Amino acid sequence: MTKRLISRFATFACGLLLSFGALAAAGGPLEQAGTDIGDRASLQRGAQLYMNYCAGCHSLKFMRYSRMAEDLGLTEDEVMNNLNLTGAAFGEHIISSMPAQQSAQWFGQAPPDLSLITRVRGSDWVFTYLKSFYLDETRPLGWNNTLFANASMPNPLWEMQGLQRPVHGEVDETGEPTVAHLELGTPGSQDAQQFDQTVRDITTFLEYVGEPAALKRQKLGVWVLLFLTVLTLLAWLLKQEYWRDVEH
Ligand code: HEC
Repeated sequence: MTKRLISRFATFACGLLLSFGALAAAGGPLEQAGTDIGDRASLQRGAQLYMNYCAGCHSLKFMRYSRMAEDLGLTEDEVMNNLNLTGAAFGEHIISSMPAQQSAQWFGQAPPDLSLITRVRGSDWVFTYLKSFYLDETRPLGWNNTLFANASMPNPLWEMQGLQRPVHGEVDETGEPTVAHLELGTPGSQDAQQFDQTVRDITTFLEYVGEPAALKRQKLGVWVLLFLTVLTLLAWLLKQEYWRDVEH
């Protein structure tokens, strides 16, 4: 009985490991996003970038402008003048102004809501995805992506990143050439390091949107540790006090 359970568990664990392996291998290795949601400046830059380059297509339906203002340390005026580009009220959710049906026609796929994207795909995936666009004239919009093959999203950040071209490797089993790696054909307005930071800021912002409570939890954690330290000190002093009587 126990043996059978163990062997079943082992089969299950192997299956899990294999499928994780297959998932990771599907789009090549992921780069480390290096995000830190405690970095308020990065969060604020990420929010600005998101609203300018992503919110036209992608909603954040679980996030309100007012909550974002409070968590990111922004005033209502700052949010309404710089970050709210749709004319929505301060208390409303961040909804893209693009009609879903039409966008499905334009792109072949409606842009999904990104509220939970870093929890579904992981931050490293989002970071790598945003850096992996390349020119491909066989695709309807002229863009492809090495991590997410045939994604129907055009590269929104190309002016900053520049235009990446594929360097083809061997032919795969269907006779198509594979992409060995990408090279920067035309440089953009940012160098590689600056662009990494831009993508990291957007990913940090999306990580916060996926779990807004994490910000508060991080801050609370410091107080909890401080409290425990003081408590330990008091307990130690009390112990000294008791033992003094015992020793004499
Ligand atoms: C012009 C519209 C448009 C813009 C602008 C845009 N996207 Fe997209 N995005 C799409 C579409 C369409 C898809 C669906 C791709 C598919 O499934 O083939 C998508 C898919 C994605 C996905 C993958 C979701 C999944 O299926 O797991 C991520 C992540 C993403 N977008 C992030 C962003 C970010 C971040 C920005 C801003 C820097 C951005 N997008 C800007 C249209 C857009």
